[in-house]
Amino acid sequence: MLDSGAVRAHFPSLQRQENGRPVIYFDNPAGTQVPVETSRGYLWYLENANANEGGLFHTSRTTDRVIAEARAAMADFLDAASPEEIVFGANMTTLAFHLAHGIGRTLQPGDRIVTTRLEHDANVSPWLALCERGIAVDFIDIDTDDMTLDMESAASVIRRGTRLVAAGYASNAFGTINDVRRLGEIAHAAGALFFVDAVHYGPHGPISVRDIGADLLAVSPYKFFGPHLGVLYGRSDVLASIPVDHVRPAGDTPPHSWETGTQSHEALKALLGALSYLESLGEGEDRRTRLRSAMTRIKSHERVLAERLIGGLAAIPGVRIYGISAPGRFGERVPTVSITMTGLMPAEVAARLGERAIYTWNGNHYAVEPMRRLGVPETLRIGLVHYNTPEEIDRFLDALREIVG
Ligand SMILES: Cc1ncc(COP(=O)(O)O)c(C=O)c1O
Repeated sequence: MLDSGAVRAHFPSLQRQENGRPVIYFDNPAGTQVPVETSRGYLWYLENANANEGGLFHTSRTTDRVIAEARAAMADFLDAASPEEIVFGANMTTLAFHLAHGIGRTLQPGDRIVTTRLEHDANVSPWLALCERGIAVDFIDIDTDDMTLDMESAASVIRRGTRLVAAGYASNAFGTINDVRRLGEIAHAAGALFFVDAVHYGPHGPISVRDIGADLLAVSPYKFFGPHLGVLYGRSDVLASIPVDHVRPAGDTPPHSWETGTQSHEALKALLGALSYLESLGEGEDRRTRLRSAMTRIKSHERVLAERLIGGLAAIPGVRIYGISAPGRFGERVPTVSITMTGLMPAEVAARLGERAIYTWNGNHYAVEPMRRLGVPETLRIGLVHYNTPEEIDRFLDALREIVG
């Protein structure tokens, strides 16, 4: 297990109290809290290096260095072959629409895109937008008993004419980790590109774009202790082959040709802070190894938290858990858990937990397709990350028990 006290000491907001009660942040899937390394990055950049890129003076040169370092650090975080395979943008959704628009130009009517019924809508709507150009969008179905992908159907849905398979790494509503490596193999066997939405998996485990065979992959640093920002990985040849919108001075060479306008340079410095915090949790000779080791440690630490949370929820009468909940299967999920309560709306429970300084989310979590397929309009989502503690889980379970009566 990680040393919880040492971890939490990095995060000033975790010391916050409301009406004398320590705040419990279980709203993490919508954005995590940040360590001092992240917030100091913002301040340092704005006070010392605030400039546009490419100028022949000190602060601009520093800015160029920040951008280059951020690309290199993200290449290490994602195990990419080169920093030039890292594209920065406003957030994942904006990057996904940008990607879809570019890919759309290379497709013909009748071509197919395959996504899944387990996705956040940011990995659905950008592809549906291409339907008006005659592109078909098909879905890999899910098993609603445990909210996992129906891998049997994957091979038949991903058939000839499929040009892109777009799948999530982990579900932001139900916590399921998908077998992305297998999906990549099936996509490639059909001659399709493989795009992975790794936004929800980002804070929970190590990502290697090469191990899983991702041609393209997106993450959002604000979900893994960093700034509000989106990051797209694209294999060099893949980025070069997609004609995206850009201004002429940006040139035709990725990653610059993919980045529209001026970036948030202060966020890139903050991203470096977040990654150096994560690196400090790992071991190894170089940054890439330390990041991988840190994320592997986080993954095992979180498994223990998931067991305690799900075990506790299962013992409360009137609480229904969606997704993987069988003991022994916690390796197939992250600690993001959706529940409903007999006779109480998720919004009511979230509000009453909020009054007790316990933050959770109610709603569909933008997971439109899975909620529709499940036939449940709203859930209460409890989303843990490595800085949460067993004591917080127990306080939450006590509060929930009291609310559901
Ligand atoms: C799985 C998943 N994909 C995509 C997104 C969209 O990310 P962004 O807010 O960076 O656009 C989210 C945000 O919650 C998400 O959880």
